Amino acid sequence: MRINVGCGRRPLPGYVNIDRCRYPDVDYSGVEFYEGDYREWQPALTEPVTEVRADQFLEHLAREDGLAFLRWCHGLLAPAGTLRLTVPDLDVHLRDMRNGAQTVPLPPWLRSLPAQPPYRPEENVFLFALYGEGHCMVYNESMLRAALSHTGFRVLDLQRPDGANLAVTAAPNAGAS
Ligand SMILES: C[S@@+](CC[C@H](N)C(=O)[O-])C[C@H]1O[C@@H](n2cnc3c(N)ncnc32)[C@H](O)[C@@H]1O
Repeated sequence: MRINVGCGRRPLPGYVNIDRCRYPDVDYSGVEFYEGDYREWQPALTEPVTEVRADQFLEHLAREDGLAFLRWCHGLLAPAGTLRLTVPDLDVHLRDMRNGAQTVPLPPWLRSLPAQPPYRPEENVFLFALYGEGHCMVYNESMLRAALSHTGFRVLDLQRPDGANLAVTAAPNAGAS
C-alpha cells in the first residue's frame, strides 16, 4: 500500500490519498481518497505500507506537529518502505532575498504584488515561502535532514528538482521511532 498525505488537488492513482479538504474542482473518481485529518485515518492494514508520500505538506504543520507527522510515518512504514517529501527550500528564498535577485518563479497570486510597495519582488517571495498558503514552518536542507534523523529516518536521496524545492527520499532506521 502507498499513501499520499495532503494530496490537495493532485490525488494519485495507486495511492491512498488523504486530505482534510475535498476540492470541488478535482475529480476523485478512479483514485482512493480519504477526506479528513491524516491522524484520523484508520487504515485496514492488510498489506504493508511501502511508501508514504507528502508533497508540499510538511511545511503546513507547526514544528512539533511536523516531527509528530514524521514519527507517524515511521510507525506506519514497513522496514523496507520509503518516505518521499517535497518542501520549499528556505535557503533559496533567503539567498534570493539577500541578493535582491528573484530566481524562484512567482506563484500566481504574487505576480501582481511586486510592483506594490513596500516590498521588493524577492521579499514578497520570501514572505510567501514563510507564510504563504497556510505555511507554519520552513525547512532548508540541514533542518530537513535533522528532523528526519531525529525521527528515526536516514536520507537516501536529496535533490533540488526545480531550484525552489527540496525533494527527499528517506528510509526508516530499524528499531527507531
Ligand atoms: C499545499 S497543499 C499540497 C497539495 C499537493 N500535495 C501538491 O503537491 O500540490 C497541502 C495540503 O495539505 C492538506 N492538509 C494540511 N494539514 C492536513 C492534515 N492535518 N491532514 C490532512 N490534510 C492536511 C491541505 O488541506 C492541503 O490540501
